[in-house]
Amino acid sequence: MELPNSYWDKLASRYPRYTDESIQSDARFIFGVAEDFGVDFEGKNILDIGCGTGTLAIPLASRASKITALDLSKPMLDIFEYDKETLNLEDKIDIFHTSWDDFIIKDKYDISLASMTPAVSSQEQISKFINSTLTYGIFVGWGDFKNNDIIDELLKKHNTLKNKTFGQTQRFTDYLKAVNIKHDVKYFQTSWSDSYIFEDALDYAISHLERFGVEPDVKVVENILLAKIKDNKIKFTTNAQKGVVVFKI
Ligand SMILES: C[S@@+](CC[C@H](N)C(=O)[O-])C[C@H]1O[C@@H](n2cnc3c(N)ncnc32)[C@H](O)[C@@H]1O
Repeated sequence: MELPNSYWDKLASRYPRYTDESIQSDARFIFGVAEDFGVDFEGKNILDIGCGTGTLAIPLASRASKITALDLSKPMLDIFEYDKETLNLEDKIDIFHTSWDDFIIKDKYDISLASMTPAVSSQEQISKFINSTLTYGIFVGWGDFKNNDIIDELLKKHNTLKNKTFGQTQRFTDYLKAVNIKHDVKYFQTSWSDSYIFEDALDYAISHLERFGVEPDVKVVENILLAKIKDNKIKFTTNAQKGVVVFKI
């Protein structure tokens, strides 16, 4: 499902940065799977599609020769630019504000990476991703489940079943199989928590319901959230499965 740009812009201030522990643990797992498959990041030109705040590009920067990172959300990139400058990574990372569809590939990259981004969803976008790399590609997507205690309760109250987003990784590997590209896939479980004051929790809950195509009943959402307040905060915990796919051209 293609999400409106405003969804990512709104999410940016809450989206984890490279310092987040859950993201760091995911990154270690992803890089480990890639290395087990033969990827060596040392001195390589790397493309990061839908880079967000630079959660993967920043930890890779010390090993890569150059990282080209792109994203269509300016607020995500503003955070990435700030961290890039603070960490003195100006020479290592080039950031482009563009959609994947509009990005023009001048030279292929040693390694292409697309993590948790709807930028690489359609057959054309997947094919462009595969064609952007000289050697290896790394894709990270949702696995079979994503459970968030409060959001799931809210979806139920709005008589909505979760039926989207997941299975991204499976669809990607199905494509690789169909075009006969050698690959490996590993699934892992990850979890994270976000604590918000009531107003921010309401905003978070509403934007998630809208993402599922639900028109939120604000009174219902408020009542459920009010019952969850502890020490002036509402804590949302998400448990999800992600999949890492590494392929070789
Ligand atoms: C969940 S974040 C992932 C960020 C980072 N890759 C990570 O793994 O933490 C998804 C990102 O994809 C970006 N995105 C969504 N659609 C895109 C598109 N068509 N072209 C480029 N970026 C896109 C969003 O703006 C957002 O920053």
